[in-house]
Amino acid sequence: MSRPMGRAVRKAYFVASVAGVLFFVMSVALLGVWPRRVIEAETAAMSPEHTVAMSASALRGRAIYAREGCGYCHTQQIRYLHTDMARFGLPTLSWETRFDYPHLWGTRRIGPDLSRATGTRSADWQFAHLFAPRSIVAGSVMPQYPALFDGAPDRPRQDARDLVTYLDSLGRARELAGPEGEARAREACNCPDDEMKQMAFGDQVNAHPARSRRGGAVPPLPAAGDLARGQALYGERCATCHGVAGAGDGPGAAALKPRPGNLAAHEYTDARIAEALWNGVAGSAMPAWRDYPPDDLAALVAAVRSLDATRTEPALPAHMAEIGARVYAANCQQCHGAEGDGRGTAAAELTMAPTNFRQQRPTLDLSLRALRNGIDGTPMAPWGSRLGADEMLAVAHHVRGFFAGGGR
Ligand code: HEC
Ligand code: HEC
Ligand code: HEC
Repeated sequence: MSRPMGRAVRKAYFVASVAGVLFFVMSVALLGVWPRRVIEAETAAMSPEHTVAMSASALRGRAIYAREGCGYCHTQQIRYLHTDMARFGLPTLSWETRFDYPHLWGTRRIGPDLSRATGTRSADWQFAHLFAPRSIVAGSVMPQYPALFDGAPDRPRQDARDLVTYLDSLGRARELAGPEGEARAREACNCPDDEMKQMAFGDQVNAHPARSRRGGAVPPLPAAGDLARGQALYGERCATCHGVAGAGDGPGAAALKPRPGNLAAHEYTDARIAEALWNGVAGSAMPAWRDYPPDDLAALVAAVRSLDATRTEPALPAHMAEIGARVYAANCQQCHGAEGDGRGTAAAELTMAPTNFRQQRPTLDLSLRALRNGIDGTPMAPWGSRLGADEMLAVAHHVRGFFAGGGR
């Protein structure tokens, strides 16, 4: 090898190693240091002044979530995609996961995204589902976690409680930040023309279709639902809880408080069924079914109506009618309302809306049972020790008299 050639090679080595080092430094700066600073600045600017930190129980739940590998099937990050947003709500902002380190975002979506799980499922639903997912959601591929329980879904161990506390904390910080928090984030973002970033500032933070609500306008449904379709849907979606024949005795029912409604022992107006489907029953495990198109909801209404096995009930002796009205006015109307419409003066304070008897009529038997035993898991207390047998019979008739469902 000639001498100039050797120098050229040495020079090339030198240049290559300097370039290599520079490239390395540049990559670390561009892919590591710089994004981190941008994200940190963004997080600091966009996060609300006071964010809620996780409770001790939620932190333990978080460790259990990681330990049990929930993140292999569930993500915790709503992407800037209209499909994600329609199902779960607004895309995740960086500040929302600031206490969540290392992150549990996950990569695979075998199950639904959980980043806005707060308030979407009642605790009894979560426990029953963790204990045996298929007892609640027919055909679910989610594994069961009986080790978190003392042998039954209504006997959760501390681990299960912590896990559910954690699930219920997901997405809460942003909801609690409220409109002021959103305004602050939008201002800090200062990106009025960035169409993509603007997607994160819509009006519905949490769009989970199963989230139950105390009220909300039901969209108009087609008048006559397709019964066969409704029955098929009922078998897939509702029978796990309400039972094949609607008696409220499906495989998931025993663990729930309150128990799923006995659909066969009620007459309902169409509006009542549609309302229960659209809003769920707040305070119970009954989810809302807002992701179903109106045709399917109408089909489900028809299917629930077809379960109605109410029979003609014995009439109340005339002299007792007055007793029923009196007992009702003295004991029941503050919750169930003077007109039986569930709008009593105390109704708004309750964890669960009192029954609107104008829209649903329980059988005499069910009505008496509710009075005698109360309804476990609801504000409806037992009256057996406070009312005489005659009084209970009379008032059980009385509430049935409110039903205004003739025209459906
Ligand atoms: C093998 C994948 C898999 C694993 C592991 C898994 N899940 Fe699931 N999960 C699913 C699927 C699929 C669904 C949807 C069907 C259903 O609701 O059961 C689901 C549903 C859920 C839901 C209801 C979400 C909703 O919006 O309807 C919750 C909550 C949940 N899982 C929590 C957990 C927790 C907590 C763990 C860990 C202890 C876990 N999952 C582990 C697959 C999984
Ligand atoms: C996770 C269990 C569960 C599933 C699944 C479920 N429900 Fe429910 N449902 C309940 C519970 C719990 C209640 C509340 C009962 C109460 O108010 O005491 C309820 C209440 C109702 C009511 C109001 C009845 C009443 O007497 O108050 C209707 C109607 C209803 N469900 C229909 C359905 C239909 C149709 C489906 C399927 C699309 C369905 N449910 C799926 C648990 C469930
Ligand atoms: C503290 C408020 C409160 C009072 C007082 C009250 N109820 Fe209730 N009642 C409720 C709630 C809440 C429910 C709904 C529970 C549910 O959806 O499962 C309910 C449910 C019922 C049901 C079952 C309806 C059905 O379709 O399943 C009957 C019957 C009933 N109440 C009758 C009465 C009578 C009669 C009185 C008076 C003696 C009375 N209630 C007093 C709150 C109350």
